[in-house]
Amino acid sequence: MAAVDVADWSADSNDAVHISLIKPVEGGVKPLHTFHPKMSYSIFGDEESIFGYQGLKINLKYNASDMRPGLQITYSKKFKTVGETSPTDLKAILENYLPKTAFGKTKDYETSITQIAPDWKPPGELYRTSESGGQTFEVWKGCLADLAVQQLVKRIQILVPMFIEGGTFIELKDPEWSLERWTVFFLYNKRSAEAAPGVSPYVFMGYATVYRYFYYQPLTPPTSPSNSSKKAPIERPATLDFQLPISGVSFSDLPCRSRISQFLILPPFQGGGHGARFYNTIFDFYLAEPQTLEITVEDPNEAFDDLRDLNDLARLRTDPEFTNLRMNTNVTVRSKGPAPKDIVDPEQVDKLRKKFKIAPRQFSRLVEMYLLSLIP
Ligand code: ACO
Repeated sequence: MAAVDVADWSADSNDAVHISLIKPVEGGVKPLHTFHPKMSYSIFGDEESIFGYQGLKINLKYNASDMRPGLQITYSKKFKTVGETSPTDLKAILENYLPKTAFGKTKDYETSITQIAPDWKPPGELYRTSESGGQTFEVWKGCLADLAVQQLVKRIQILVPMFIEGGTFIELKDPEWSLERWTVFFLYNKRSAEAAPGVSPYVFMGYATVYRYFYYQPLTPPTSPSNSSKKAPIERPATLDFQLPISGVSFSDLPCRSRISQFLILPPFQGGGHGARFYNTIFDFYLAEPQTLEITVEDPNEAFDDLRDLNDLARLRTDPEFTNLRMNTNVTVRSKGPAPKDIVDPEQVDKLRKKFKIAPRQFSRLVEMYLLSLIP
């Protein structure tokens, strides 16, 4: 038997996967946007290569409103198994990432989409509506213990390994008290004017998940008799996690650190200021929520760091106390000997930091950026 030319039967997994947002139209469905994954190594392997097909297309369709997924796999030729060499079992792989309902017949999927009520609303509650460029955007917010929120997250979680480097799935089988620690924000474009009669005006644009960590605060600040004349160090309360349930205690009542875990704007909507607006909306929510003492981000990538820095700084610049911060110019930086005096008043900085609920490291970066911007 002739040797198999692997290249003839291999497809780049990022090229093979086509993700579409679709809408039902008279007699079928219409794609609104189509895009490819940014990465797929955690799904198809480090080589991001799929063996055993020619002309392979993995169409992952999403109904634009409720993100009901439908998968269709097409190819012109499939490799016939020889010994241990067999085509990649795509269904077996994708079953780990998509709900079972995604694997039905195309006709059934398309019919199911036409049956979605035109007054369908995203899960959770509407947190904010905004207008920009003549368009309406809505941010919906819900708890992961809510089954409707869970269903939507289950449908879209495959997008995490496709777009967020190192992003991980949330374990949806966790007990309810554990799921309650997750809040999910959904960003939607509401296209009422364009929506055909009987079709939902909602178009999903992105989502973010936020996890609550209990924030431990000692009841009394530590004192030491020998150091009583010295200033007490600024508190850096540790994250102390413990096992719930504890009878009568709910995470939503405890002081916490709210950590943005996954944050995604779908590619067709990136670069238009939606990420910035969505981030600020989430930040506004936690700034106003009394239980949250600090807003943090899990393992941000460079793009998210940029977005966060720009928007945090813009927020801080609206505060006169922050814009009055000035550098102590009497500081001399020495390579040896005692540490130099702080270049800004640490108490003032910490007061502002707590007011804006920004973590110490991020706040120091922002103060530094601001002070550098003052240098003529
Ligand atoms: N018109 C044109 N450009 C604009 C506008 C506007 N109205 N407003 C902002 N921009 C520019 C910004 O200045 C910025 O430019 P820069 O890249 O030169 O800095 C750029 O557009 C991006 O800003 P936004 O549009 O607000 O951000 P976007 O909507 O693209 O969201 C994000 C950024 C979240 C990183 C998005 O690209 C994304 O989801 N990427 C894939 C997933 C990802 O990386 N997520 C973060 C992982 S980290 C985590 O999850 C915690």
